Amino acid sequence: MKNKKYPALFSPIQIGNMTVSNRIAMVPTDISSANADGSVNRRVITYHEEVAKGGTGFIIVGATTPDKLTGRPTVTCLAADEDPLIPGLAHLAEGMHRYGAKCAVQIQHPGRQAAWPRKNLMSASDHVLDVPGSAGHEVIYAESIAQGKSIRAMTVEEIYDLIEKFGEAAWRVQQAGFDSVELHAAHGYLIAQFMSPFVNKRNDRFGGSFMGRMRFTMEIVSRIQMKCGKDFPLGIRYSGDEWIEGGRRLDETVRVAKLMEEMGLAYVDITAGIFESPGAVMDPMYYPEGWNTYTAAEVKKNVEIAVITSHSLRNPDYCEKILAEGKTDMVGMCRQLIADPYWANKARTGKKKEIRRCISCLVGCWQESLMIKRDMRCAINPAIGDERFIHLQPAKKACKVGIIGGGPAGMEAARISALRGHKVVIFEKSGELGGAMLYCCTVPGKSKMRWHADWLREQVKKLGVQVKYRAEPKAKDLKGFDVVLLATGGRVARPEIPGIDLPFVVTFEDVLRCKNSKCEHYPADKAKPAKCGQNVLIWGDHFGAADAAEQLGCAGKKVTIVTENGDFAEWMEPVHRDVMMKRFACGNGEGLKSKTYKNPVRIIANSSVLEIDKDGTVVVVSNTFERCKVKAETVVLAKVEPNDGTYPKLLDAGLAVVKIGDSKRVRNVRGAVTDGANVGLTIEAGATLNANNELISNLPTGIEL
Ligand SMILES: Cc1cc2nc3c(=O)[nH]c(=O)nc-3n(C[C@H](O)[C@H](O)[C@H](O)COP(=O)(O)O)c2cc1C
Repeated sequence: MKNKKYPALFSPIQIGNMTVSNRIAMVPTDISSANADGSVNRRVITYHEEVAKGGTGFIIVGATTPDKLTGRPTVTCLAADEDPLIPGLAHLAEGMHRYGAKCAVQIQHPGRQAAWPRKNLMSASDHVLDVPGSAGHEVIYAESIAQGKSIRAMTVEEIYDLIEKFGEAAWRVQQAGFDSVELHAAHGYLIAQFMSPFVNKRNDRFGGSFMGRMRFTMEIVSRIQMKCGKDFPLGIRYSGDEWIEGGRRLDETVRVAKLMEEMGLAYVDITAGIFESPGAVMDPMYYPEGWNTYTAAEVKKNVEIAVITSHSLRNPDYCEKILAEGKTDMVGMCRQLIADPYWANKARTGKKKEIRRCISCLVGCWQESLMIKRDMRCAINPAIGDERFIHLQPAKKACKVGIIGGGPAGMEAARISALRGHKVVIFEKSGELGGAMLYCCTVPGKSKMRWHADWLREQVKKLGVQVKYRAEPKAKDLKGFDVVLLATGGRVARPEIPGIDLPFVVTFEDVLRCKNSKCEHYPADKAKPAKCGQNVLIWGDHFGAADAAEQLGCAGKKVTIVTENGDFAEWMEPVHRDVMMKRFACGNGEGLKSKTYKNPVRIIANSSVLEIDKDGTVVVVSNTFERCKVKAETVVLAKVEPNDGTYPKLLDAGLAVVKIGDSKRVRNVRGAVTDGANVGLTIEAGATLNANNELISNLPTGIEL
């Protein structure tokens, strides 16, 4: 039956001999959750099964190595380099087929970008690496000796050996029952290293001219066709624009597509960037919906085979539009399906508002997982990597839960608790729910944070959670609650230095207040944001400092940041940091068209503020006791500490109280959401505190406290 709202999105498509029931593709996602030998396990199956259950038509399993001894993109990627791996892969394919999805495996060798091994890495050339956003980036040991990677050009024998291994891996995937295979020729991994004029400096038959650089790819394609048959649908993923001086641009991308079509490929999957241009590969929050669509549109004008586009696609209306306009044949999503694997079903049944839109923060799926050699998580979807949240069990006996603070931790705890049948009350100090997310979302380029705040607010409303605004309950007000959660977030520290109370000393919260009076959740009596002078000094090294610097920098102010650390924002997700630093220097992220700053942001590292004078002179002292003076009309305080002042009183009153989110330890949205979700899962009538003051429930029979 034709879908009335999204007829293009929910129409079938023929890709080679494979019929896909809708236009939604999961573009390859290495969830780095396989066993250490690269074999499939329950976690891998569950992830893909949920995406299939969620209605995605075509699922391309992420980077799978054809040779784990010489290259794994992540330490626990999938492998297809031995026949004993076939049964596991077959279970994976069956899991997706059961829910009607067609599926492929992306074969990838990382070459110089391997996460494992770390030494003697193979590449097209021995090109030096500086890739801040790569999963296989330099490893820094405790003694801060950066261990550079050793990279070497592959010999011709090694090249032919690997071509054979690609062919074998594709054959194993076919044997396992997959419908298709995709070659990963994007993002600066091995095939891309050969294809890219920026990386490939060879002067033999695998380098030089366009056809020389394409030879490795073409040989792999031929080998796969020889082993799997020409009618086994083969696709290729590569970057429409590498966004680097000397790299491939769109004209050559079109040429590649025509060549691949000629060779009999079934589809091209057009992505962006190389890891030297990390913004384009991983598009952090700043990147607008579909910023990369134009590359697929250009390719589509030139070939008949199916074209997939991806990058920051979140909204079914936008996806429908680009399909209807003929800019692409399929819309591809990676992070959106991590955040909400049920995207397709929700769009199809008119539940767009229910979609938990990915905010592109890259914290759970990259910074705190693949980049640090762990399995994948998600900042806003606790079910990723943790099946307890997929099979949510109702509480044995409902109880009353009081939550102090309605930020991401408080709201997520309320959501999970209410889903499990508890009666939940949120006490929120201000007039609206959202907490620290509301500051971030006022920063140009970071409004996506609002999506999650709004989603949680809607869920809390839908689940009947009672919200008491402008409420700061005392212990006596909480007596009737079985469990109390302290989710009061962080507070701005006010170090005792001369001048701290001067009127032009404000907090990042004052600067980042929302002034949008049209927002449906906006309380009319909210204070206005602080007015800042032209010269602003920000003191701190926290999200608040970064967000204030970005907002003020965008507004044309002259911003100086003072941090006690060796560099600013080293805790930040590295792709965001890379783009932010480029913007601080009046540049931009690769492919990003946002307004650039008029003035560069200055960072004074290894330093602290000693005093602030009435006339706006700020005395800054370094860790080697050198002093300098900075003139500022406004000083913004942005050091944050847990706001947990009421905790001892609540504990002393005998309440079963636990801290969650920043009130426990100042972190990020993932820390807050994960804490909230975990505690929501633990709450039961009779839950109690253990000797670490954490909440426990469901003790084994016979164990009592
Ligand atoms: C956790 C993670 C794993 C990824 N794994 C792969 C992969 O295995 N192969 C690939 O071609 N791209 C991979 N990518 C890139 C995505 O497929 C996609 O191009 C990028 O995330 C932008 O699209 P999105 O906004 O839909 O996430 C990965 C991205 C993330 C965040």
